[in-house]
Amino acid sequence: MQVGDLAWWLGLLLGAVPLAALAVWRCNDAWYCAAFALRQRRWRRGRHVRLPPGHMGIPFFGETAALSWYFKVARRPDGFIEARKKRYGEGVGMYRSHLFGRPTIIVCDPAANKFVLQSHDNFWLRWPARDLLGLSSMFNVEGSMHRRIRGYVVATFSKPRSRRNIARMAQPCVVEALRSWADKGTIIAAKEIRKVMFESTLEIFISMKASPLTEKMDKWFVGVLGGLTALPLDLPGTALNHGRKCRRRLHAVFEKELQKRKNNVKWGLAAEEDYDDDLMSGLMEMEDEQGEKLSDEEVLDNIVSLVFGGYESISSAVLWAAYHLAKSPVILAKLRNENAAVSEGKSSNFLTLDDIPKMKYTAKVVEEAIRLANIAPMVHRVAYRDVEYGGYTIPQGWQVVVWLRAMHIDAKYYQDPLIFNPDRWNEPPMAGTNQLFGAGNRTCAGNMLARLQITIMLHHLSLGYEWELLNPDAGVKYIPQPMPVDGAPMAFHRLSTSTQ
Ligand code: HEM
Repeated sequence: MQVGDLAWWLGLLLGAVPLAALAVWRCNDAWYCAAFALRQRRWRRGRHVRLPPGHMGIPFFGETAALSWYFKVARRPDGFIEARKKRYGEGVGMYRSHLFGRPTIIVCDPAANKFVLQSHDNFWLRWPARDLLGLSSMFNVEGSMHRRIRGYVVATFSKPRSRRNIARMAQPCVVEALRSWADKGTIIAAKEIRKVMFESTLEIFISMKASPLTEKMDKWFVGVLGGLTALPLDLPGTALNHGRKCRRRLHAVFEKELQKRKNNVKWGLAAEEDYDDDLMSGLMEMEDEQGEKLSDEEVLDNIVSLVFGGYESISSAVLWAAYHLAKSPVILAKLRNENAAVSEGKSSNFLTLDDIPKMKYTAKVVEEAIRLANIAPMVHRVAYRDVEYGGYTIPQGWQVVVWLRAMHIDAKYYQDPLIFNPDRWNEPPMAGTNQLFGAGNRTCAGNMLARLQITIMLHHLSLGYEWELLNPDAGVKYIPQPMPVDGAPMAFHRLSTSTQ
């Protein structure tokens, strides 16, 4: 090849590659901005409208890789938002992006979050890969169907009779598990806590006892979670494909249980009241004003998604409570004192519902563990119509990611935010800055149940045991749930004063 030819090819390569890269980098953003401008020009002649600042990354993948990088590699999840604040300014706390395969507006300011979460007519809930949560589950339905199912579930969790049943059904699992941990002497806390919370959740929801099948179910739930945070690519080997398979397997297990109950009642092998205490029966028996019951599919979709929504989050909260208590002996001593006082003079250490209102300090420990763990980092909506906020437009059909987590560890709202300090809850937080359980008509339906289950766990832990982190300086990973990278190995012993 001649020198001239070589120079020509080299020049082409050096010029064309960066140009092509620039074109790929710009084209996604340019495409969506142009489509937005065209649509707005047609409908809103003369009115000045604009998209929030930001960038939409490369076609299809958008900025999903950058988000994953901050969560999985850098392990600084809020770095993703901080980078945007630095580049585009804090403004009204909204940025355009492209995540999980869809054009997206990220909102990350207390007022903007509240605006989105409370504008029910403008923003609908939209999970990526909705089928993974069940198309007729409470997480996916809107309007009157949502109100109907939500009303029932919230009532079930808050009714004294149900709470009494929940406390009664959950405690034997917890007590037995703690005994077995002390027998082992050393545990990987993340693994053990997850196991016991899964078992007690299955007990409460479908009266199912631990077995090799429940171990498999736990793995399938992890698969579903992986599919929810994956790109919308359903090919063999992708996380979404795996998540869908896991969901089908779970559905089949719950369906078998449902059919068993129906047949038992039909053939007189059991009365409806025999299953009265768990949530599955509650959902099967639920009737609306016209006396209509939920279809089998609706019961199944809801029960699967409730178990899913429940145990992952509670396990994470309990793990972080145990973790911080191990590092905070003064706080643990206060917790122990309160729990010992509650049990004083009683023949059993089992908590009753009457005990809960007396456990004021325990309630603060629970709240603080949930705050610092930031268990629900973000929630998803879709704009039902074009919505104006703070001088910007959130376009119809775009995904809206409400970034809850940053404000809970922001020094503007929580003093020394990274310190575990239950006493900060002596005063209510600044208005709008506590979105631990979301806000608006989609506020966590299980928050009472979550608080109750965590309280039960802390009661038995603090009364009967002592534990020590074997690797207190381990780093933290954030996917699928925040936890120490090594799962928090602990030395775990029975207290000499224990009656457990
Ligand atoms: C510490 C534990 C928990 C945290 C931090 C948490 C957090 C949240 C958040 C932030 C939302 C709002 C989602 C949105 O706006 O789209 C939510 C919704 C929900 N949570 Fe929880 N949650 C927890 C435990 C539970 C438990 C134990 C259950 C039930 C078993 C549960 C069931 C639900 C349901 C059904 C919804 C959807 C409500 C609706 O759409 O009306 N959660 N949760």
